[in-house]
Amino acid sequence: MSAPISLTLRVWRQDGPGVKGRFEDHRLNSVSRHLSLLEALDLVNERLVAGGKRPIAFDHDCREGICGACAMTVNGVPHGGLGRLTVCQIHLHRFSDGDRIVLEPLRARPFALIRDLVVDRSPLDAIQQAGGFISVRPGQAPDANVVPIARDIAETALDLASCIGCGACVAACPNGSAMLFTAAKVGHLNLLPQGAPEADRRALAMVQAMDHAGFGACSNHGECAAVCPKGIGVSAIARLTRAYTGAARRQLLSL
Ligand code: FES
Repeated sequence: MSAPISLTLRVWRQDGPGVKGRFEDHRLNSVSRHLSLLEALDLVNERLVAGGKRPIAFDHDCREGICGACAMTVNGVPHGGLGRLTVCQIHLHRFSDGDRIVLEPLRARPFALIRDLVVDRSPLDAIQQAGGFISVRPGQAPDANVVPIARDIAETALDLASCIGCGACVAACPNGSAMLFTAAKVGHLNLLPQGAPEADRRALAMVQAMDHAGFGACSNHGECAAVCPKGIGVSAIARLTRAYTGAARRQLLSL
């Protein structure tokens, strides 16, 4: 069994939007290295509650890398930059005895801080709602596999569909751009025959929603892809740019 570890969690505390925030240090002595970062926060919160203090607010749901809710900044990097891991998948054995781990909320202009480590990521939902769906007609569903899809197309679409909407890409981008997120959401539907009839409308609407929500423009830094826990690459952005410019041109020609 691995030896226990002692470290300090330096956590951003802020009672609400517009209120001055501060860092707060919480020492953990001789705890299991198998604890995840979120479980370490749970331990701190148990202590705070027992002492009659307000627990640290942080988002989480699945705790297994599926939902994206736990995204926060760990030692200055969204999700910590420890490989393709979400915060809930980071365990204390990745740190050294005596380390200080700095936890902050995702910092991006469109993500308003709610409390402590929790930010409002609903601007990403607005992009998704603008076109991240396939319209279906009522009636009998077609048989499964009736539409042949080439394997490379299907695999690329599935890779793009693995985006969990955590917002790390936005927080890592110096412009606060949501291009990688939007590219993943547009791309996985536009690539498939089922999504093709609405491809132009989807690309135009989702990029417009992204601009409207106040996200910055992409200037090809690539920080987004570097922190994506699902490994979505910047080629997705190139694909979105092609889809958007093609759709905009066709729209102009049809006027
Ligand atoms: S809690 Fe769901 S991905 Fe971390």
